[in-house]
Amino acid sequence: METTILGRTGLRVGVAGLGAGGHSRLGLSTGGNEAGAIAVIHAALDRGVNLIDTASVYGTEEVVGRAIAGRRAGVVLATKSSAMRGGEPMTPAAVRDSLEASLRALGVDRIDLFQLHAVPPGQYETIRDRLVPVLERARAQGKIGFLGITETAPNDLEHAMLARAIPDGIWDSAMVAFHMMHQNARERVFPLTRAHNVGTLLMFAVRGIFARPAQLATTLRELAAAGQVPAALAEEDPPLGFLLHPDGADSLTDAAYRYVRHEPGVDVVLFGTGSIAHLQRNIDSILKPKLPEADRARLAALFSHLRGVGLDVPGRPR
Ligand SMILES: NC(=O)c1ccc[n+]([C@@H]2O[C@H](COP(=O)([O-])OP(=O)(O)OC[C@H]3O[C@@H](n4cnc5c(N)ncnc54)[C@H](OP(=O)(O)O)[C@@H]3O)[C@@H](O)[C@H]2O)c1
Repeated sequence: METTILGRTGLRVGVAGLGAGGHSRLGLSTGGNEAGAIAVIHAALDRGVNLIDTASVYGTEEVVGRAIAGRRAGVVLATKSSAMRGGEPMTPAAVRDSLEASLRALGVDRIDLFQLHAVPPGQYETIRDRLVPVLERARAQGKIGFLGITETAPNDLEHAMLARAIPDGIWDSAMVAFHMMHQNARERVFPLTRAHNVGTLLMFAVRGIFARPAQLATTLRELAAAGQVPAALAEEDPPLGFLLHPDGADSLTDAAYRYVRHEPGVDVVLFGTGSIAHLQRNIDSILKPKLPEADRARLAALFSHLRGVGLDVPGRPR
C-alpha cells in the first residue's frame, strides 16, 4: 500500500481507505451478512488499508468493531456523529451521547478521527459554535484523536460549507465529494485544504453512476438532451468508452478511482464494497498510475461545468 500523511493530523494512512457506508455498507445492504462484512474488512487490512470510515447512521460500527478486535493498533478508525436531527442542529448532549454510543459499538476507548456528518451549509456556524466545545472536551479526555467534518454533497453542490469551515482552523480533515463528472472541488476545496493542511477523504468516486453502466448511460442521455454535453456522447457504447483503451483504464470503476486518486490535494480515496473481488480490483486501481493526460483533459473539457451529477443517496437510487 502506498501511504501518505493525512494533513495536520500527522497520521500515516494508506491512500485507499475502506468506507463502511454508501450503497453497500460492506455488503449488509446488498444481501451480505456480518461474516461477509468482516471478511471484507480483513481483506482490506491484509492489503494494507489502514483507514476505515464508518458512522453512527450506517449501522456498521459494531461489525467494524468486531473485525478490528485484536488488530486495533494498526487501524486509523474514523466515525461520525450526525450534525442534524429532525431538521435541527444536534444538541451538545446528543453529540456527546452519539460519541459514547460509537465508542461502545466499536469496542474502543478512543476514536482516531471523529467527524460531524453531512453538515448543511446554512447551519455550519451554528453547528460549529454549538458542538465544537463538546468535541474539544472529548479530545482533551482522550476519547477523540482528531476532528473532521463531512459535507452533504447532494445539498451543497458548490462546497459552500467546506469553503467556510476549512479556514476556521478547527477541522483536521474534510470529507469531499469529487468524481469524473463532479469536478468543482478542484477550485472550491483543494486549494483551501492544501493551504490549511487539512487532510482530505474522497467520497463519491464511483457511487452508483460509475458502478452501473445503465445509470451512466441514462445520465448522459439526459445531459445531452439538456444541451449540457455533446449529443455524440450519449450514443457512445459503452458509456465513456473513450476512457477504455490499452494505455488507459480497463473499466469504468478503474477510470473513476484512478481519476480521483491523482488529483492534487486528495489524500485518501474511500471506496465502499461488499465484494472482496471488487475490493482487490479497487485497491489495484487506486495504486495504478494516472489516467493518460489526454483522457484527463477530455474529462475536464466535457464535464468540468457540471454540477450535481451522480450524487445519489442510498435508499433513493435513480
Ligand atoms: N456525507 C458523508 O459523510 C458521506 C457520504 C457518502 C459516502 N461517504 C463515505 O464514503 C465511502 C465511499 O462511498 P461509497 O460507499 O459510495 O463508495 P464508492 O466506492 O464511490 O461506490 C461504491 C459503489 O460502487 C460499487 N462498486 C465498488 N467497486 C466496484 C467495482 N470494482 N465494480 C463494480 N462496482 C463496484 C459498490 O457495490 P459493490 O458492493 O457491489 O462493490 C457500491 O455500490 C462510504 O462508504 C462512506 O464511508 C460519506
